[in-house]
Amino acid sequence: MSGQDEEAGLAEQLDRFKRRYEREKKARREAEGLLEQRSRELHAANFELSTVAAQLEKIVEWRMSQLSEALLRAETAAKSKSEFLAVMSHEIRTPLNGVLGMAELLSHTDLTKEQHDQVATLKECGTSLLALINDILDLSKIDAGKMTLENEPFNLYALVDSVVNLFVPKAGEVGLKLVWRRPSGSAWVMGDATRVRQITSNLLSNAIKFTPQGGVTVEVGAEEDQVLMDRMLLRVSITDTGIGLTEEQQGKIFSAFEQADSSTTRRYGGTGLGLAICKRLAEAMGGGIAVESRLGEGSTFVLSWEAQRAQEAASVSAEAAPSPGPSPATAVSTEPLSILVAEDNSVNQKLILKLLEKLGHREVKLAGNGREALERARQGDIELILMDMQMPEMDGLDATRAIRLLDLPRQPHIVALTANAFTEDRERCEAAGMDDFLSKPVNLERLSAALERGRQGIRLPSPTP
Ligand SMILES: Nc1ncnc2c1ncn2[C@@H]1O[C@H](COP(=O)(O)OP(=O)(O)OP(=O)(O)O)[C@@H](O)[C@H]1O
Ligand SMILES: [Mg+2]
Repeated sequence: MSGQDEEAGLAEQLDRFKRRYEREKKARREAEGLLEQRSRELHAANFELSTVAAQLEKIVEWRMSQLSEALLRAETAAKSKSEFLAVMSHEIRTPLNGVLGMAELLSHTDLTKEQHDQVATLKECGTSLLALINDILDLSKIDAGKMTLENEPFNLYALVDSVVNLFVPKAGEVGLKLVWRRPSGSAWVMGDATRVRQITSNLLSNAIKFTPQGGVTVEVGAEEDQVLMDRMLLRVSITDTGIGLTEEQQGKIFSAFEQADSSTTRRYGGTGLGLAICKRLAEAMGGGIAVESRLGEGSTFVLSWEAQRAQEAASVSAEAAPSPGPSPATAVSTEPLSILVAEDNSVNQKLILKLLEKLGHREVKLAGNGREALERARQGDIELILMDMQMPEMDGLDATRAIRLLDLPRQPHIVALTANAFTEDRERCEAAGMDDFLSKPVNLERLSAALERGRQGIRLPSPTP
């Protein structure tokens, strides 16, 4: 190859390299441009996204604050509704006591048969109105979070025993067979006996009410928890051969004011509050109520909960001791007692004086508030005080505490007389030094029984009726 050829070859090679270099440079520039454009687009999209996110966050925050405000408003409304109901029910009970008490007095006077029937209807209506008010009071107390449960030892078997006994006459009246499978021995557990009694009574009352024929069987179970040996698994089950319920009905009967079908009220009476209260109470005890039922065949309602095992209570408790029961008026001594009635409401004063008069106590002293009661008690001649809890100036609790501090030859027997039917109230009365407890409306029978306990110096709060 000549030197010229070699030169020409090199020039061509150089030219190729140059072109290739130019091509690659162009391609790189294009790629860089594209990259820059993409990253600009990405940046813009990113910016837009973060603006939207910030806006969204603000909207969520605003919604949340609106929601929590609405929730707070709803909670406050529900609470004030429950408080309103609690106050109203309490206020309604007081005049209703007057109505019922007067009807009771009237029924003990000379009446024609027709008048007698009319008074009986008056009493019946008053009593069911009172039961309704008590139910509403219960429900509103639970909903307002004011329901506190006791935790005292009680014997479950004895408790169910006494509830079943209460329903034996009713079952007999309507021709139902009431079977109670009472296990032998006893089952001492911790808990709120009053509430267990309330639930059991309600379930048993429903079973009898909704069973036109056949029978009702009550069973209890108390088993030791296999893991936590000091705990017991408890169960009260009530089976009936009554009208039964469809699945749909089973789903709604535990709500307040719900009945299985709208004709229930007409046929069987009631307001549909019983089971709603029972369910809430059972849940407050950490348990529940289950139902198994078939339309036309019958139902089984089971209350179950867990409780701490308890030692047999040494002290006299409502479930342990044989209940003193309402002593019949005839078995009661009629020798007048020196009685002081501390009560501010004039209708109630009149009523209680009339009832006492019927029981042979004519010379009764009166005090319009706690301070007057204290001054009267200071004289030392009072044997028994019927003490209202809520009074102006000084309430019944303060008056009792003050009386207990008096140096008297003999302390009077003090019986709380109150429209408050709750366990907490009974406890407060006991703690203040009262000996006995009568919830209003007081009737002749219960008053007479309380006077008799006072005469014998029996210090025992009567179980809530
Ligand atoms: N053992 C039962 N058999 C059939 N139906 C029942 C039974 N127990 C309850 N029910 C149905 O459940 C409904 C709700 O019962 P709940 O005890 O709450 O109300 P109630 O008995 O109608 O009224 P209240 O108890 O307030 O006086 C009843 O109306 C009835 O339809
Ligand atoms: Mg009921």
